[in-house]
Amino acid sequence: MTFDVAAVRREFPILSEIIDDRPIHYLDNGASAQTPLAVLDAVRRYETTSRANVLRGVHRLAERATELYEGARADVARFLGVQPMEIVFTGGCTAAINLVAHSYGQLLKRGDRVLISELEHHSNIVPWQMLRLRSGIELDALPVTPDGRIDLAALPKLITPETRLISLVHVSNVTGALLDVRKVVEAARTVGAKVMLDGAQRAPHGPLDLPSLGVDFYVLAGHKCYGPNGIGALWARSELLEAMPPFMGGGSMIARVTLAETTFAPPPRRFEAGTPPIGPAIGLGAACRWMAGLDWSAAHDHQMGLVQRVLDGLQDIEGARILGPASLQNRYPVVSFVLDGVHPHDVAQTLDSFGVAVRAGHHCAQPLMDRFDLDGTTRASMAPYNDTGDIDALLTGVRHAANTLR
Ligand code: ALA
Repeated sequence: MTFDVAAVRREFPILSEIIDDRPIHYLDNGASAQTPLAVLDAVRRYETTSRANVLRGVHRLAERATELYEGARADVARFLGVQPMEIVFTGGCTAAINLVAHSYGQLLKRGDRVLISELEHHSNIVPWQMLRLRSGIELDALPVTPDGRIDLAALPKLITPETRLISLVHVSNVTGALLDVRKVVEAARTVGAKVMLDGAQRAPHGPLDLPSLGVDFYVLAGHKCYGPNGIGALWARSELLEAMPPFMGGGSMIARVTLAETTFAPPPRRFEAGTPPIGPAIGLGAACRWMAGLDWSAAHDHQMGLVQRVLDGLQDIEGARILGPASLQNRYPVVSFVLDGVHPHDVAQTLDSFGVAVRAGHHCAQPLMDRFDLDGTTRASMAPYNDTGDIDALLTGVRHAANTLR
């Protein structure tokens, strides 16, 4: 079935904006995707018909707000193939990983080991280094292959009987490489380690069935999933959430407070102290419904066609090199490249003059840049609403940068 990209584009009003007489070719979806009308409408509906705090009031607006908020939790759960009570709303992926590092981290003791990789976003490195300082855990890192994948051949060497958690990126925000989750889960089970996936770049590309993946924790970010900023979700198996102590204390997360002590609410409320980001959560629920309504098989083929167009086009530009898989196999639509002799920021600035929005720099993955001895790359990251016009504008801009900046 062909994918009607024009129809999808019409759902995103920002894509027809003209800035400085130029249309927008938005290829920075890995940093933040755009938001469809369905999501904007859902947030506006809440703000204009049901705005109140949740889980507290007995008045009708509060009841409506609570219903919408809990409905959003159910939407996110459905999108991930899990139970609503296993979903904790967070401020984003970073907040979700920090929650696990603090809360699940309290169950770890000196000498326990956490395994990450050289490919991780800083949000899946720094919280574990901080935990190491707090509680004396050890941190190990899987290396990266020359084509920008986590080198799973190193698993047997790096998994030990002390490994308690393996926390890896599901799809790399730099190279687009997809993790072989089955291999990781199999290896983890041999020592009883838990597995967490950073789904920031995978979740925007269609529904998941987390129970069949066999992982224990999963995190996603609303703004990358066509939803609002400042919202994300943590999924964890219910027995893990039950066992985890709270991270932040305050209103909503308690069962009973006296001046002597506090008992805590069951999950997920135990992990949602204070007034949550209600409108953004409702927006994320709407984004999950919007994503669930898309034909992802067609959308994936469409986006892979765009990736192929980028890979082919860059191959013809002298000095352009890809950082990441050279083929379409086991990858998602994120393409990083360098242009020899030109700083990635200069490439990105040239592209901006062609109306093309990309990200340039280290992509919050400095250990990966060190691995390849790079300061940074230029990154084009795609969404279902991107079309061949976006890719052709990208390639025209890169050609111009290659011809004028070297
Ligand atoms: N983590 C986001 C990115 O990769 C911001 O661009």
